[in-house]
Amino acid sequence: MGKAARKRQQGPTLAEKVDPYELYQESVQGVEFELDFVEQTFTDIRGRNPRRIREDFCGTAQSATEWVRRAPGNEAIGVDIDPEVLAWAWEHNIAPLTPDQKQRIDLLPEDVLTVDARGFDVVQAFNFSYWFFQERADMRRYFANAWHSLGADGVLFLDAFGGYEAHRCQREKTKMDGFTYIWEQAAYNPIAAEMVCFIHFHFPDGSKLNRAFSYNWRLWGAKELRELLAEVGFRRTRMYVQAFDEETDEPVDRFDETEEIPDYASWIAYLIAEK
Ligand SMILES: C[S@@+](CC[C@H](N)C(=O)[O-])C[C@H]1O[C@@H](n2cnc3c(N)ncnc32)[C@H](O)[C@@H]1O
Repeated sequence: MGKAARKRQQGPTLAEKVDPYELYQESVQGVEFELDFVEQTFTDIRGRNPRRIREDFCGTAQSATEWVRRAPGNEAIGVDIDPEVLAWAWEHNIAPLTPDQKQRIDLLPEDVLTVDARGFDVVQAFNFSYWFFQERADMRRYFANAWHSLGADGVLFLDAFGGYEAHRCQREKTKMDGFTYIWEQAAYNPIAAEMVCFIHFHFPDGSKLNRAFSYNWRLWGAKELRELLAEVGFRRTRMYVQAFDEETDEPVDRFDETEEIPDYASWIAYLIAEK
């Protein structure tokens, strides 16, 4: 029996059957924790609950969807330049919402550099997507757009990572339920601070979905990002760095506000900017 016939007999592999967006949501995103952080931090700083959120680089809009599900007064707009991923978001995440929840969410197929949607309590860009912007002028333009999009006491929520491991090519495997998630830093050019990263998914039947997602990012430093945020008018920025368990040295689900950390091999933080 030839290869093609054998394949027909065995049926499709797991890699052929899965939906990469589903796997992305399951392995990369943690929207419950993220939104808890946004809600608590905004309330601590502003003394009121946030209501209107704009999720930039929203992709499948998992966070925007969860936000409108959380409370009857919550509203969300997702912005993404790719109409294909937004179509997926409408079909898989927004369709199951109640009519009332659907009325409080919208998705805009636009560029975050030019989108004109204003009056938000929170603009959020997570999972480092804003690092697509590799030129200072573009990052400045993005921060200026976010500043104009926020209401008078609005807050921009970003994340950032660093540490000496961030400057090295490496692969990190995480076992998930029914598949393995692999994060690969495949190339890094320290002159341009440019990195190429991939997400791969591997399956128990031996099949692989290599390079399911790929990213070309600039590895930005916290200091230069904060300088740019100040330049476009944000009054104050704060860093909240993920804490480590003192015994196991593993990262835990807690982010502490700080201005100084040791030279960790790797760290992840929220960077927030107050209008
Ligand atoms: C990795 S996904 C982010 C998904 C999700 N928000 C998360 O936190 O994991 C990055 C998304 O950014 C979108 N994107 C890239 N450049 C953009 C731009 N200039 N304006 C709007 N969306 C953009 C891509 O289409 C892609 O869906």
